Amino acid sequence: MPEKQAAVKEIKAIIGKKLPQKAYVRSFGCQLNVSDGEKIKGLLKEIGYEFTENENEADLIILNTCAVRENAEDRVFGIVGSMKKLKELKNDLIIGISGCMTAQEHIAEKIRKSYPQVDFVLGTSAINSLPGLLLDCLKGSRFSCDINEYADFSEAAPQVRESTFKASVPIMFGCNNFCTYCIVPYVRGRERSRKAEDIVNEVKQLAADGYKEIMLLGQNVNSYGNDMEGSVSFPQLLRMINDIEGDFVIRFMSSHPKDASKELMDAILECEKVAKHLHLPVQSGSNKILADMNRRYTVEKYLEIVDYLRERDPLFSFTTDLIVGFPNESDEDFAATIELIKRVKYDNIYSFIYSKRTGTKAAEIDDRTPEEVKSRRMRELLEAQREISTEYYKRFIGRKMRVLVDDTSKKREGYVTGKSNEFIIVEFPGDSTLIGRFVDVEITEARNWAVIGKIID
Ligand code: SAM
Ligand code: SF4
Ligand code: F3S
Repeated sequence: MPEKQAAVKEIKAIIGKKLPQKAYVRSFGCQLNVSDGEKIKGLLKEIGYEFTENENEADLIILNTCAVRENAEDRVFGIVGSMKKLKELKNDLIIGISGCMTAQEHIAEKIRKSYPQVDFVLGTSAINSLPGLLLDCLKGSRFSCDINEYADFSEAAPQVRESTFKASVPIMFGCNNFCTYCIVPYVRGRERSRKAEDIVNEVKQLAADGYKEIMLLGQNVNSYGNDMEGSVSFPQLLRMINDIEGDFVIRFMSSHPKDASKELMDAILECEKVAKHLHLPVQSGSNKILADMNRRYTVEKYLEIVDYLRERDPLFSFTTDLIVGFPNESDEDFAATIELIKRVKYDNIYSFIYSKRTGTKAAEIDDRTPEEVKSRRMRELLEAQREISTEYYKRFIGRKMRVLVDDTSKKREGYVTGKSNEFIIVEFPGDSTLIGRFVDVEITEARNWAVIGKIID
């Protein structure tokens, strides 16, 4: 495959003759994948592509996939299947698959064998190979593929960001934790941290460009730097970013409870730019299930973190991820999860029915819990959380919240919607001129999905 810059030059010469060429890039899965999608778009822009939201008018389609649950994969296969028609209508259409699905050999093989409409497959750490693969396709190759693992990541990769005021900044890639249900360590490799200096410089530039929210990303940001001798720790990095000049809020995800140190909690509380919200995935309220999941903390340890932060800031907000129906989860295990969410009072939960992933440890367990029991538990969990949110959101009534406005409301005419520092959805009367700005809002009502208020001058 030709080297990146040489390939870019050659593609420019080929597609230059038929400009404008339009690319449709769709990312699935977590924010790290969305961030990769922004880099893919950055490379395509450098080559000369424009972007479209409509796959029917695209000359190039890239599906940037997620493998975390089976239904995520099924969805992509469904979409790829339906693209066969597009390819028949437009002979020179190029279709590529990137992202986490491609890192599983059996999936890459299935794509190659059963989906001839796909022209190339790009692995998760091979984004810089995109120009080379594309060039192969433009020169008529039937199928190109690079799913090799590359150790380094390009710091200078251009990026087309999805938002003009919210920016994601990956601080590390990969995961070392091997939770028994999870495919991520197999498809994203081991932890690799970016240099603190590069991260700080990126955030400085984003702040200077007027970005209002900086989201630091990693599968477990708390172990940032562990792979680099002499590196600053994550709490130290937070303090360095907090010192950058500008009016912006700092968020981060995800934090693994086993690595949530007192140093981290103090940094969150003391840094004025860091949101008073922690996304702390707990997965289950049962110590037995947590051990089976290889999470390496107990419910008691988890609650110590919650209590430490709430004692110092009683309004502090927590959100979490939960898995329902891990193999052989009993009624008692599930009841412990309900008890935990009532005790913590999460502002929001992201809950998933366990999905068996080939190659993981949990996939080997003989699971005797029927699917209908898992679905019933999921409904019960969501209902319990609805009650908690409705009640707990009331703590904000009569208070002032600082809100970064995201968009006009889809639910109410004449309203806008945004996120408070605590990551709560806030809706209030306003118009699109407020999008991308911080405003102070007085809260007057609590719903189960948001709080409602009015703007304070
Ligand atoms: N690294 C993050 C952490 O440990 O908190 C989570 C990353 S994962 C992409 C997001 C969430 O997907 C997990 O927290 C877990 O709840 C869920 N998840 C992962 N594997 C799953 C599986 N096999 N079935 C169902 N949910 C799963
Ligand atoms: Fe998956 Fe666990 Fe790593 Fe999160 S910490 S990505 S759940 S293995
Ligand atoms: Fe999915 Fe890969 Fe993220 S498996 S959740 S896109 S790291």
